[in-house]
Amino acid sequence: MTIKNIVREYSKLLKNVTHIPAKEVEILILHLLQKNVIWLHLNNDEEFTKEKELKELVLKRAKDFPMEYLTLKASFYGEQFHVKEGVLIPRPETEFLVEKAVEILKTIENPKVLEIGVGSGIISVMLARLVPGIKIIAVDINKIALELAQKNAQYHEVEDAIEFRESDLFTNVAENDFDMVISNPPYIQNDFKLGVNVMHEPGSALFGGVIGDELLKDIILGTKGKDIKYLLCEMGYDQLKPLTEFIKDIKHHKLNFYKDYENFDRGFTLEFKK
Ligand SMILES: C[S@@+](CC[C@H](N)C(=O)[O-])C[C@H]1O[C@@H](n2cnc3c(N)ncnc32)[C@H](O)[C@@H]1O
Repeated sequence: MTIKNIVREYSKLLKNVTHIPAKEVEILILHLLQKNVIWLHLNNDEEFTKEKELKELVLKRAKDFPMEYLTLKASFYGEQFHVKEGVLIPRPETEFLVEKAVEILKTIENPKVLEIGVGSGIISVMLARLVPGIKIIAVDINKIALELAQKNAQYHEVEDAIEFRESDLFTNVAENDFDMVISNPPYIQNDFKLGVNVMHEPGSALFGGVIGDELLKDIILGTKGKDIKYLLCEMGYDQLKPLTEFIKDIKHHKLNFYKDYENFDRGFTLEFKK
């Protein structure tokens, strides 16, 4: 079959999982052939030689398997990152967290940052790319994530700025000399029923406890305990109120919440007095 006909045939299998079935089949074809879109449009009438491999990917996609896990790639902050099953796929709303952090870090000379829950490495890698002189320790409990983040740091040529370390929150971080802690921790309630689009991602990256904000609270207390000035976190759209209540009882200087692209409350900047 020609590429054009393959796209027509296989997109029928994806009608129920995406509103852009033909586009997704094209993306999978390009992934298999390691070609770009221009090539595809110039070679639409060529015979397609990897139908067996394509079929396997399309059938997985038809069961709501994320495109990013099939193509092993995702975009974040206008850049490309490697992704892998077993590690959270980057979300566009996390770009706000990076933006807020960069604003502060650019005012500090050679800042030192601790990232908790590095996942694929998108936050630490972008900070290392955008903030001159930065040094980061990036931790996670997931070994696959730490390996992937390291690979992304190498791909973006910032591996010298980031030390990756296995640690459950602060337990393996003896250092106290950070200017900032940054985290997009798991913050969903344990028994929340996830949509099909998220169920292939690791629960350890999504669920934050019985209420959902337990890890966020531990990170707030840990940052305060280490006498670190800034804490920036992503959070759930419904966590502004409980976190405001929680933080009210902890001595701090400033607390600002921010919203995401859809105007949901999505995170906060907490500043302690030094
Ligand atoms: C929501 S994901 C965020 C990943 C990445 N930073 C991002 O923004 O895409 C949360 C990450 O926290 C990690 N994590 C969960 N519990 C942790 C803990 N107790 N200590 C350190 N990392 C943890 C998970 O393995 C996961 O990689």
